[in-house]
Amino acid sequence: MKPVKIGICGLGTVGSGTFNVISRNQRDINARAGCDIIISQIGARRDNPNCNTGDTAVSRDIFDVVRNPDIDIVVELIGGTSVAKDLVLEAIANGKHVVTANKALIAEHGNEIFQKAKAAGVTVAFEAAVAGGIPIIKAIREGLSANSIEWLAGIINGTGNFILTEMRDKGRAFDDVLKEAQALGYAEADPTFDVEGIDAAHKLVILASIAFGMPLQFDKVFTEGITKITAEDVSYAQELGYRIKHLGIAKRGENGVELRVHPTLVSDKQLIANVDGVMNAVMVKGDAVGPTLYYGAGAGAEPTASAVVADVVDLARTLTADPEHRVPHLGFQPNELSDLTVLPM
Ligand code: HSE
Repeated sequence: MKPVKIGICGLGTVGSGTFNVISRNQRDINARAGCDIIISQIGARRDNPNCNTGDTAVSRDIFDVVRNPDIDIVVELIGGTSVAKDLVLEAIANGKHVVTANKALIAEHGNEIFQKAKAAGVTVAFEAAVAGGIPIIKAIREGLSANSIEWLAGIINGTGNFILTEMRDKGRAFDDVLKEAQALGYAEADPTFDVEGIDAAHKLVILASIAFGMPLQFDKVFTEGITKITAEDVSYAQELGYRIKHLGIAKRGENGVELRVHPTLVSDKQLIANVDGVMNAVMVKGDAVGPTLYYGAGAGAEPTASAVVADVVDLARTLTADPEHRVPHLGFQPNELSDLTVLPM
């Protein structure tokens, strides 16, 4: 069986996690993919002490990876929306499949990227873009495909949840916990994305697109972060039997879809109120299945790498399958169920 060759662009927290997970679990991963997955090249401006790349070719110019004719799948883990967009579009133009963890890129430029990928006959997979290691895209798109989704709601920013948890349990100061979240590799390069709710809005719009079959409409999400939450707010909520949770909510109504991200008082008897630290949880209500709940680490090197590598394995399995029995990788398929509009909030 021909191996599938991948190129990893970016060797930061998630890039190094991806390299390490593939190296450590190589045998099992290859068995599940049904072929050998080889990291042919890494594109990274600098080395990462958490990652021993050994004999793997490392180029300081990340564009070398998308121009490398040997590479089948480009794994984009550089983040941001400018260079990453150029990189992904060039990869697509060169006929390469793409795996990305970049929620900002998908939320803000996904409509264009998926259109170009479709025209080029390649897949852009992005499981790692939402809720870290939780396979939530797969769960909604594949596991709940029989359902009309009524609503979804969740804690989809690990940094914000970590801050609120530490403020409540240990009385720690907001800025102090944010610094720790940065040191642990949870926060975005610009942590205002975490604390102002922008990261959660990116993720919510992606989830809503998959759940409701609508185009990505990031600019329509009502977004409020956690920067105005004080230690007093957290402890008063607790006295009253509530927790303050920063939620992303997408709800389908008769006239459109509500998309909102904001701090919410949740009764401490609810499961989601007890999701603490960097953990994420997403509830999805389908008309057939009823309410469902998905839980796991929402940020961090290896939880996010878990989702990145799962996309690589899925794609590799598809690329090497006997054409007669090939199940197409789903990539992004807004099913255009409807012309649902996002309601003004
Ligand atoms: N900064 C993000 C978070 C990383 O804290 O959830 C994972 O998307």
